[in-house]
Amino acid sequence: MPGTCVIGLQWGDEAKGKIVDLLTERHDVVVRYQGGANAGHTVVTGGETYKLSLIPSGILREKVRCVVTGGVVLNPKSLLAEVDGLVARGVAVGENLMLSDRAHLMFPWHLEEERLEAGALADGEAIGTTMRGIGPCYRDKVGRSHAIRLGDLYRGDLRQRIKKIAADKNRLLSALAGSADFQPIDPAAVHEEATGYAERLKPHVADTTAYLLDTLEAEGRVLFEGAQGALLDIDHGTFPYVTSSNSSGVGISSGAGVPARYLNKLIGVAKAYSTRVGGGPFPTEQDNPTGQHLRDRGNEYGTVTRRPRRCGWFDAVAVHYTARLSGVDTLAVMLLDVLSELPEIHVCTAYEIDGRRVTNFPSQIGDLRQARPVYETLPGWECDITEVRRWNDLPENALRYLDCLRDLVGRPIEVVSVGPDRDQTIFA
Ligand code: IMP
Repeated sequence: MPGTCVIGLQWGDEAKGKIVDLLTERHDVVVRYQGGANAGHTVVTGGETYKLSLIPSGILREKVRCVVTGGVVLNPKSLLAEVDGLVARGVAVGENLMLSDRAHLMFPWHLEEERLEAGALADGEAIGTTMRGIGPCYRDKVGRSHAIRLGDLYRGDLRQRIKKIAADKNRLLSALAGSADFQPIDPAAVHEEATGYAERLKPHVADTTAYLLDTLEAEGRVLFEGAQGALLDIDHGTFPYVTSSNSSGVGISSGAGVPARYLNKLIGVAKAYSTRVGGGPFPTEQDNPTGQHLRDRGNEYGTVTRRPRRCGWFDAVAVHYTARLSGVDTLAVMLLDVLSELPEIHVCTAYEIDGRRVTNFPSQIGDLRQARPVYETLPGWECDITEVRRWNDLPENALRYLDCLRDLVGRPIEVVSVGPDRDQTIFA
């Protein structure tokens, strides 16, 4: 089983980090292949809490190599801050971190573009991005003419390239700002900063595609860690309220440069309920005391931005879709303990759109906006399950709930999480 993949099946924040952490000890290499510093995960190990964003949590384990591939957009400043934070706490960061020379880089203009664009949107149109420059950086990647990749930092024409791009970006920023203030780009300062980053990053820069193919051909065990969730996929998610990369299972091959034939096992991770950060329709949202209860019990506040997450019932229409789209073999159901106090639990089994009952997840945002959830109601278990360690020791109503999710999503449940600690995990 050389290639194992962990994919979020909702709108991100499914606690993938815990599953990745559990699987890491059985792998030689952990790979981040899309997204950027918009993702965040918290790992608790040896009584210490680490908050990581770009660097896979495998960095906390000796002998595991962490690879950030060309599908990721890299912010050198935040990456180096993460490295410094780890080193200051005694974590070795050297050959165990590889960065693709194909990865596109974030520059100050990306952050400024995003800030000005977000300010110009009317209420209700806002995507509610993480403001980490993700969209503008991916836009430049696809546009090509204003893109700079990590490998380009070591080219002789870097100063010229930054000068030309900065001139165009200053015109763009001025037009976006209109009468508002904007931060003009000083190409000399950007170049100086970039050469400083280039020097520090150099020991980590590599052709990660070749490395991963070599590793997989030699039967090395590689774990692919998805960022965000499948409903935020740029092509297959709830467009335009999505992120700018392929965050569903379909993005693994393109982001990592690894053919699908090496991806032997895909685990889809879903919370036992739903959350979403930022804008966009969310049919099962509970903007009421039930939602607040889920937020409080689940500590549903963003790792990167601390924004309160929107909370609601499990949406089986959505997760059935993303499990199929991502080709997942099994499910990990996270944060089941958060539901423990509720006397009744609802699961969305279908939508009603324009008087029609629909079980296929809509491709058009207008349809999703109109979707009224059809719920199945199950009895709660109303007892603490955080100490349960064996499947058959779960209360009957919790097992009934899990069976319901399994049947609606159409995938077996392999793992259930009943708390943040590693040992609060139940294997089927
Ligand atoms: P962006 O990725 O910063 O462009 O944000 C686009 C959308 O994706 C926004 O709704 C964000 O809240 C959401 N998003 C981005 N990264 C994450 C994540 O790691 N967890 C949850 N939502 C995210």
